Amino acid sequence: YQQGNIYESIGGAEAVDRLVEAFYKRVGKHPDLIPIFPDDLTETARKQKQFLTQFFGGPPLYIQEHGHPMLRARHMPFPITPTRRNAWLECMAGALEEAEIEEPYKTSIYERLTMTANHMMNTEE
Ligand code: HEM
Repeated sequence: YQQGNIYESIGGAEAVDRLVEAFYKRVGKHPDLIPIFPDDLTETARKQKQFLTQFFGGPPLYIQEHGHPMLRARHMPFPITPTRRNAWLECMAGALEEAEIEEPYKTSIYERLTMTANHMMNTEE
C-alpha cells in the first residue's frame, strides 16, 4: 500500500477523530504530560486532527488554517525530554489500540510518529 492511502484505508475522518479523542484522554491524565499541556485540550485536539489528517495523506487541513506546520519550532516553548517523548508515544500506542486502527496501518503509523516524536525532543532530563 502507499503512504498516501493510509487516511482512506483506516477509515478517514471518523478514524482520525477516534484516534485523537483516545489520545488526548490519555495525555490529560499522564503525570509526565499534564505540566506542559493546557487544562482544556479541545483546541489542541482540533489542531491535531487537522495535522494528522494531512500526515496520513488526507486533505491538507492544518496547512489551510495555520500554514506550514514547523512542528519542531512550535514545540520549542515546551521542554520535551526523552521521558516526555516516551509518555507521548505511550499515549499514542494506547490510542491506536482503543481506536482499533488495524494492521499494517497501526505499526506504520506508530513508526512514523516515533520518528517525528524523536525530532521533537529539545531538552535533556
Ligand atoms: C502541540 C507536546 C510530539 C503535533 C503541542 C503542545 C504541546 C505538545 C505541549 C501545545 C498544546 C497547546 O498549547 O494546545 C508534545 C510532546 C511531544 C509531542 C511532549 C513528545 C514528543 C508531537 C508529535 C506531533 C505533534 C510527534 C506530530 C504528530 C502537534 C501539533 C500541535 C502540537 C500539530 C498543535 C500545534 C499548533 O499549535 O498549531 N504538542 N508534542 N506533537 N503538537 Fe505536540
